[in-house]
Amino acid sequence: MELTPPDIVRAAYAELVVTDLAEARRFYVDLLGFVVSAESDTTLYLRGYDELIHHNLILRAGPEPAAARLAYRVRAAADLGRAEAFFAALGSRTARVPAGDTPGVGEAVRAEDPLGFTVEFFFEAAHAERLQQRYDLRRGAEPARMDHFNITVPDVRAAREYYASLGFGLSETIEDEDTLYAAWMFRKQTVHDVAFTGGAGPRLHHLGFFAHESYQVLRICDILGSLHAEAQIERGPGRHGVSNAFYVYLRDPDGHRIEIYTSDYYTGDPGHPVLRWSVRDPRRRDFWGHPVVESWYTEASAVLDLDGRPRPLQADKQAAEVIVGADGFTR
Ligand SMILES: [Fe+2]
Repeated sequence: MELTPPDIVRAAYAELVVTDLAEARRFYVDLLGFVVSAESDTTLYLRGYDELIHHNLILRAGPEPAAARLAYRVRAAADLGRAEAFFAALGSRTARVPAGDTPGVGEAVRAEDPLGFTVEFFFEAAHAERLQQRYDLRRGAEPARMDHFNITVPDVRAAREYYASLGFGLSETIEDEDTLYAAWMFRKQTVHDVAFTGGAGPRLHHLGFFAHESYQVLRICDILGSLHAEAQIERGPGRHGVSNAFYVYLRDPDGHRIEIYTSDYYTGDPGHPVLRWSVRDPRRRDFWGHPVVESWYTEASAVLDLDGRPRPLQADKQAAEVIVGADGFTR
């Protein structure tokens, strides 16, 4: 029997474990410009300026850096039961989380998904004040909202098939005749809510936050340069081939990777075509052909199971690598 997946609206928020909450606050709030929705001695709840729900990012103090969960908002309360049944049928461990367990979030279902990530599904959310036109408050990269999760998985094809079964559309790929190197999949009407990077996994590759203008991507680079924090600019700024987005990748004080991302495109029509990039095209990762730094391919954040324990890593199953252009080694 084919199970009905939950009707997922979008990638909504993620929880990261950070080792120094004061340092994380300085990076995410003071420099990047996130808005504090709530805070305690151990946890910060942050959102972007356009966001209507309580938060896009939870930073929780803990002993080791990790990604604790990736949360998707669903369309209706009934989707919680659908999520529970869907994951139970896959043999995944699930848990019901009562309303208020996470501030600003109603009842939720969490699951250890087949890729090894702790995913959460929630419907009810407290509405926060939308600060879109509070230009007087904006700082740093002026992040607007959560855009996407990029996850590192040993088998990109298996990840694509699992997310297709959850109702995600496919927007773009990097591939050759034999191997799917990366894929971008969406529920909201943009290029993606989730993307897959091949490598030892499960690990979180990066969290992508939407900004409205390319100057906001450039401005955060200038700010980090002024503060002699240039080492936190890992890759870019540049134009992606995949997604056409203007981007920069930053590393937070714990090494978690954050992307500031703007100007991708609409994917909402039925039959939206898949854009397939050859792995041999040097423009796929950077439209101007700039090299991808090695750390971007090799480093990512550990992920936690439902009990908060680090998940064991599985080795990359995709040994294929193609040497292309400036990358030197690449996918
Ligand atoms: Fe991204």
